[in-house]
Amino acid sequence: MKNQLCIVLDFGGQYNQLIARRVRECGVYCEIRNYRTPIEEIKKLNPSGIIFTGGPNSVYDESSPHISGEIFELGIPVLGICYGCQLIAYTLGGEVKSCEKSEYGKISVTHSGGVLFKDVPQESTVWMSHTDYISRLPEGFEITAKSADCPCASYQNTDKKLYAVQFHPEVTHTEFGKNILRNFLYDVCNFKGDWVMDDFIENTVKKLREQIGDKKVILGLSGGVDSSVCAGLLSRAVRKQLTCVFVDQGLMRKDEGDFVEQTFTKLFDMNFIRVNCKDKFLKALKGVTDPEQKRKIIGTEFYSVFWEKIRQQGTDGFFAQGTIYPDRIESGRGNIAGHGSTAVIKTHHNMVKMPDDIKFEGTIEPLGDLFKDEVRAVGEKLGIPRELVWRQPFPGPGLGVRIIGEITEEKIKILQNADAVFRDEIEKSGVADSLKQYFAVLPDVRTVGVMGDHRTYDHLIAIRAVTTDDFMTADWAKIPYDILARVSNRICNEVEHVNRVVYDITSKPPGTVEWE
Ligand code: XMP
Repeated sequence: MKNQLCIVLDFGGQYNQLIARRVRECGVYCEIRNYRTPIEEIKKLNPSGIIFTGGPNSVYDESSPHISGEIFELGIPVLGICYGCQLIAYTLGGEVKSCEKSEYGKISVTHSGGVLFKDVPQESTVWMSHTDYISRLPEGFEITAKSADCPCASYQNTDKKLYAVQFHPEVTHTEFGKNILRNFLYDVCNFKGDWVMDDFIENTVKKLREQIGDKKVILGLSGGVDSSVCAGLLSRAVRKQLTCVFVDQGLMRKDEGDFVEQTFTKLFDMNFIRVNCKDKFLKALKGVTDPEQKRKIIGTEFYSVFWEKIRQQGTDGFFAQGTIYPDRIESGRGNIAGHGSTAVIKTHHNMVKMPDDIKFEGTIEPLGDLFKDEVRAVGEKLGIPRELVWRQPFPGPGLGVRIIGEITEEKIKILQNADAVFRDEIEKSGVADSLKQYFAVLPDVRTVGVMGDHRTYDHLIAIRAVTTDDFMTADWAKIPYDILARVSNRICNEVEHVNRVVYDITSKPPGTVEWE
């Protein structure tokens, strides 16, 4: 069964993915498309609602993204947000001017009714970010909300099913933003709310079975959220036709390799191949201290081992990847981007470049339409343990970027043990949910200490915990002192060769989250 569709037309705003996620949280399937998408293509997609995003431009600049008025003749309801709000008014003959006083941040608005504001108090707080405003609406439109400095904070034309808000309903700072989106989706567009994860699993399993038939599928499993959920879904669909290859380079956290192996061999039906190659990695890394070179060696060794195993397994059948929707968007494969050529932000690590001599019948990306929160919801429903589904981000080169200087077996062990204590204390003390990442680092530093009557000269452990929205910037977390004290005591007592613990109080920038 095909889901009803809402389209988010991207005009270059920074919250576009967030809009799509919020729509999906309302139970409505949603895809992001470039504002240049031809009208014929939009008609073919047959959406039940369209949302215009914000954008950094002024509608009256000729170089700004514009759209043909034809889109308003399709009879499909449209909701304009911020730039999208101004664009609808401007395209249909209204007037947009530069504000005398820009509005930025939390602003109080008062509404005068209208379907968007059903169950929203007459006065509420919204998030505004604009330097232009609508000074005159086109004929047939009415203002439905205003703020002290914005005479048209929201408007509607119920005959044409056009609605708009100058503020951002998708951000949590807008108190009733979710209600407003929901009102548009359910009361204007008449969506039924058919985007539910149980159905997703059932439909995807059916599609995968049809596509794969009796062929084989091979998946590189890292133990991260995406590849784990992908493995769970493929196992549900084709069981033993699936082979997962898990390369353990010995740089994972304490006992993590064993945990991944147990999960996928005990809880799921599949062929599971674990390649233990710690020694090969250690040999290649011997004497290397430069961070970039270490990263490069770890990456090269990983893929050389991985592709060799794939060659041994044979390439008849399909290759599966845990690509998710934001990976496709960020690498320019999601039909999005406000400005066409700026689409490719990065080549994503989930989307691996295959050597030329390896040719499969096709590539399968069962999670390619999902956001991370949805991937996690699917993972939970498939019975994947919480430790994997809610796993904090872990860098591809693993502990390699957390051991400064040369990587040795002894240092890996010290770091794994210290990191395990830190994580244990954070999880026990109930502050884990407020942190985005927390881990230990082993700088190549020894300091003097005392233990009993003896002088010691041993390793220093640094602990790092951050809060962040997007990892582009991050704050060091203000963990209560009593927790830090317990962590320090336990690490010095329980981890051999550590006599000192320090807490990293650097934000990003100027620091990065990882140390290398
Ligand atoms: P930085 O250190 O750049 O980290 O502030 C931001 C986020 O990215 C993760 N990270 C990596 N993830 N491969 C990955 O898959 C890498 O090489 C890598 N380096 C950093 C880091 O853990 C943090 O979440």
